[in-house]
Amino acid sequence: VSEPVVLGIETSCDETGVGIVRGTEMLAHAVASSVDEHVRFGGVVPEVASRAHLEAMVPTLELAYEQAGIDVRDVDAIAVTNGPGLTGALLVGVAAAKALAVAHDKPLYGLNHLVSHVAVDQLQHGRLDRRVAALLVSGGHTEILLVDDITSDVTMLGSTIDDAAGEAFDKVARLLGLPYPGGPHIDRVAREGDGSAIAFPRGLTAAKDAQRYRYDFSFSGLKSAVSRHVQREQAAGRSIDVADVAASFQDAVVDVLTRKTIQACRDHDVDTLVVGGGVAANGRLREMVQQRADAAGIEVRIPRPSLCTDNGAMVAALGAEVVRRGIGSSSLDLGAVSSRP
Ligand code: KG4
Ligand code: ZN
Repeated sequence: VSEPVVLGIETSCDETGVGIVRGTEMLAHAVASSVDEHVRFGGVVPEVASRAHLEAMVPTLELAYEQAGIDVRDVDAIAVTNGPGLTGALLVGVAAAKALAVAHDKPLYGLNHLVSHVAVDQLQHGRLDRRVAALLVSGGHTEILLVDDITSDVTMLGSTIDDAAGEAFDKVARLLGLPYPGGPHIDRVAREGDGSAIAFPRGLTAAKDAQRYRYDFSFSGLKSAVSRHVQREQAAGRSIDVADVAASFQDAVVDVLTRKTIQACRDHDVDTLVVGGGVAANGRLREMVQQRADAAGIEVRIPRPSLCTDNGAMVAALGAEVVRRGIGSSSLDLGAVSSRP
C-alpha cells in the first residue's frame, strides 16, 4: 500500500504552520510565527494571534507547496488542528482547511493538538508502533499522556493545575529582567549558575499528593517563591545572582517534570517516552530526562526543536496515520474546541 500524502494546518496558538507529509516522510514544514507581535505584552494575545494567522495563512500554504514541489491538488487529505487551543486562532485554521477541502474535494480531518505533538516524532524516528508515554511541555500545555494508539487510544494521565511549564519559564524570566519568551534565556543563563544554590519548592510532590495529584503539576507556587526570593534580596540591598536563581528554578521544574513522567512510565509498564513542546528544547530537561530514563530502562524519543514547537507537519503526521488506518473523516460542520479533550 502506498503511504497517504496529507497536508496539515496548525493555528492553535501563535504559530501558523503548514506541513505536507507522505506517511512518515516530511515533504514540507512551513511555519510563520507572530511571537514578535506579542513581545511587548509579555505573552500571547489571542486577538493579535488570530489576525496574524489570517494574514500568514496563504503565504505559508504557498511556501509549503514550494518546499514539497506539489500542491493541495496532489494530496489525499487535509488535516487541521481543531483543539485544544485559542478558539479564535483555531477557527482561522479550521476555516482555511474547510475551504481547501471543499474547493478541491478532499476529505477533512479535525485533529487533537496534543496527540499531534506525539505523532510528529514519527517524522524523525520512524513509526510509533508500540505503546508510549508522552511528556508535552510548552507555553500553553503541560501534560503526561499514555498513548496506546495515536489514532484512537490516548489517555491524559495528568496535567498542570495552574501555569504551563513554559509559562512559568516566561514569568520567572520576566522577574529576572530577561526578554520574552524567557525559556531560552533562562536555559542559557542557568548554564553559569548553581542549580542547588536555592531550594525552590517542588509542586505536588508531597506524600499527601501522591494519589490525587500523582501525575499533575503546579508551577505557580514555584513562581511565587522565586518572586519572594528576588524581593527579599532587593530589600536587603543585595544584588541578585541571576544565574543561580535561573539554574535553581530550572532544576525545580525539570526535577518534577522528569520524576513524575518516569513514575508514570513505571506505573504503566511503558518502555518508550516521547517528549514534545517548546520546553523540550531545554538543555537541562533533555539531560535529566535522558539520565532518569536510562536508569529506568526507558527509551527516550525527543524530536529536534523545530518539530517540538508548534508546526503543521505534526498535524500532517497524525493525519497520515489516521488516513492510513482508514478512519472516517470529519464533517464540514467541524468546530473548534478550546478546552482539553
Ligand atoms: O511549543 P511552543 O513554541 O509554543 C507554545 O507555547 O505552544 O513553546 C513555547 C514555550 C515558551 O514558553 C518558551 O519560553 C518555552 O517554550 N521554551 C523554553 C525553551 N525554548 C522555548 N523553555 C525552556 N527552555 C528552553 N530552551
Ligand atoms: Zn503545542
